[in-house]
Amino acid sequence: MTARIIDDAAQVLAKPQAYTDEKRLHEALAHLRAHAPVSWVDVEGYKPFWAVTKHADVMDIERQNDLFTNDPRPLLMVSDGEDVLRAQMEAGIGLRTLIHMDDPHHRDMRKVGADWFRPKAMRDLKIRVDELARIYVDKMVEKGPECDFVQEVAVNYPLYVILSLLGLPESDFPRMLKLTQEMFGGDDTEFQRGGDVEDMLAVLLDFFNYFAALTASRREHPTEDLASAIANAKIDGEPLSDMDTASYYVIVASAGHDTTSAGIAGGMLALVENPGELARLQKDLGLMGTAVEEMIRCVVPVKEFMRTAQADTEVRGVPIAKGESVLLSYVSANRDEEVFSDPLRFDVGRDPNKHLSFGYGVHFCLGAALARMEMNSFFSELVPRIKSIELAGEPELMATTFVGGLKHLPIRYSLK
Ligand code: HEM
Repeated sequence: MTARIIDDAAQVLAKPQAYTDEKRLHEALAHLRAHAPVSWVDVEGYKPFWAVTKHADVMDIERQNDLFTNDPRPLLMVSDGEDVLRAQMEAGIGLRTLIHMDDPHHRDMRKVGADWFRPKAMRDLKIRVDELARIYVDKMVEKGPECDFVQEVAVNYPLYVILSLLGLPESDFPRMLKLTQEMFGGDDTEFQRGGDVEDMLAVLLDFFNYFAALTASRREHPTEDLASAIANAKIDGEPLSDMDTASYYVIVASAGHDTTSAGIAGGMLALVENPGELARLQKDLGLMGTAVEEMIRCVVPVKEFMRTAQADTEVRGVPIAKGESVLLSYVSANRDEEVFSDPLRFDVGRDPNKHLSFGYGVHFCLGAALARMEMNSFFSELVPRIKSIELAGEPELMATTFVGGLKHLPIRYSLK
């Protein structure tokens, strides 16, 4: 057997804390793309994996979804957590969402919610999203001249959008906010419920219980919302199991929330740090589409997903054995010099912009159109109203290897 390629720089991909220092992270990833684009990572606390850092390789792997599957290891987590969740899933009591599945079951399950995220559904939702965007920009005016943009604006607005789409009562929104933050903040001491696997499981159980009750109520009294569509969906004439319905709600509520918040918060910081680009956008609001896309490329709210090889194969000439996992670093792929000119630059007019922040292939983000619309509505409302804006303290990033971005962004501003 050939020796594995091991470059120590790749260890950053298994260190939640490394994501809080973007400059060093990008230096390490640039080094890997140049010298060890497929590198073996074996660090304490995690099962080993191959780190894949080139844009073309991430796409190739995602395209071959029979050879590289999501099951059994769709994302990086500490090995104890992985073992417990695996055991639960095998016992039929673990959450199994779209990201844990492969075709053909994945295809059937994806169809259940797909109509709710198509362009027509988005057009119907746009009026409400625009209205929410206005409400949150007005709130910034009320709170001015300073706020923590993340905690006071960016986390709330997308939550309102996604929970409105699901059809949940507004009184439950604070509870959902806490649960999604506990779930994705599992690696960050500020948000985690506790540091143990039991704490993570308790969060999942709370989600499950809440959504099991929701399913029962929507089956009894169907309404015109996504929650009813999920609760009353049938595959091959059979209703979804309680676990499948609960898992569906969890993926929609969680994937639809923290990701977009991170996109909005990171986008805001990019505008503050690049006043020239903000001025350019203010002068030509027709750039909003490319500006939003550039925010999503630079922020990379979802840092990685994983796949597992179902047969011996190779990536960029590096042999990958059956059963080994590959980590697809979207953070790195989006800065790949072979695809993006001047990749570290924030350019509101960047076009083309073939970023991989929404993934690629059969698991391509179901909510991509919604996320784009939310960000577009928000910045279309905010940007023309900005008279001045600057940092009022140090921005702070969340420690995570999966979903997240800024957790605090103190800003000082004057809006029209
Ligand atoms: C800027 C915001 C967002 C980003 C960066 C993002 C990113 C991603 C990524 C990288 C994937 C995995 C793709 C792959 O494996 O190839 C994904 C999947 C998914 N996303 Fe998003 N997402 C965002 C917003 C949303 C929103 C608003 C929703 C709404 C519910 C959503 C729902 C989902 C779902 C359901 C999946 C699983 C799809 C599947 O496995 O078939 N996402 N997202």
